[in-house]
Amino acid sequence: MSTKTNPRVTVTTLRKMKREAEKIVMLTAYDASFAKVLDRQGVDVILVGDSLGMVIQGHDTTVPVTMDDMVYHTRAVVKACEHALVIGDLPFMSYTSPEQALRNSARLMQESGAHMVKLEGGAPQVATVAQLAHHGVPVCAHLGLQPQSVHKLGGYRVQGRDEAVAKQMLEDAKALQDAGADMLVLECVPVTLAAQITQALEIPTIGIGAGRECDGQVLVLHDMLGISPRAPKFSHDFIGAGATIPQAVASYVQAVKAGTFPEDQHCFF
Ligand code: KIV
Repeated sequence: MSTKTNPRVTVTTLRKMKREAEKIVMLTAYDASFAKVLDRQGVDVILVGDSLGMVIQGHDTTVPVTMDDMVYHTRAVVKACEHALVIGDLPFMSYTSPEQALRNSARLMQESGAHMVKLEGGAPQVATVAQLAHHGVPVCAHLGLQPQSVHKLGGYRVQGRDEAVAKQMLEDAKALQDAGADMLVLECVPVTLAAQITQALEIPTIGIGAGRECDGQVLVLHDMLGISPRAPKFSHDFIGAGATIPQAVASYVQAVKAGTFPEDQHCFF
């Protein structure tokens, strides 16, 4: 896909895509070479996820990832992208107060060139999201399974099957939107709850293990390229037999845009 005819995705583009029911395609990337492939194949949003702690650094969790790691990888990705909006993850313990979040978001935007930052959490993060929005920082929130809290959660599990937890998640989603969040990732959430949250919000929802009704989809690049030794149930190996990496990314873009990914086998009910 030529980037010359494909202008930069912005927060305005994302809201328009939601209004017009055009699916948003998001993938993670951590370096310039892969980011360039994704950008050229028409991926709308590239997330420099703290999943890099697992797929790049070889840790068991995302907990050890630092701000310096995020600044380094986000800078490389931003350099390669002409079309995609680039999100940099705020890592574990980098946003324990609105002031700290603001300082570290400034680093990601000024030192790396990120267009948006992402943080995990519901009600406790509302004041932080408001502070960031007030200072002109676009924010992607993240509800459902929050990998930075894996030790507190006791493992990677579906979130929101319980009625009280589901109700809280819906309330948190609305509060984060009202505080100024521009987008919301829903990870490992039952299909019906993700659909309910998507309908209740004006900002786009991006699902990962959250069903087809979300406004877009995200996967970890190494999972969808079949590199991860234990890819999660919600992922799919798009490289299959014999495809090249650009072909695999193009298949993912087409499948998300057409609404054929995820299938029931990738969802939680
Ligand atoms: O770090 C990451 O890659 C993420 C995605 C799983 C959404 O947060």
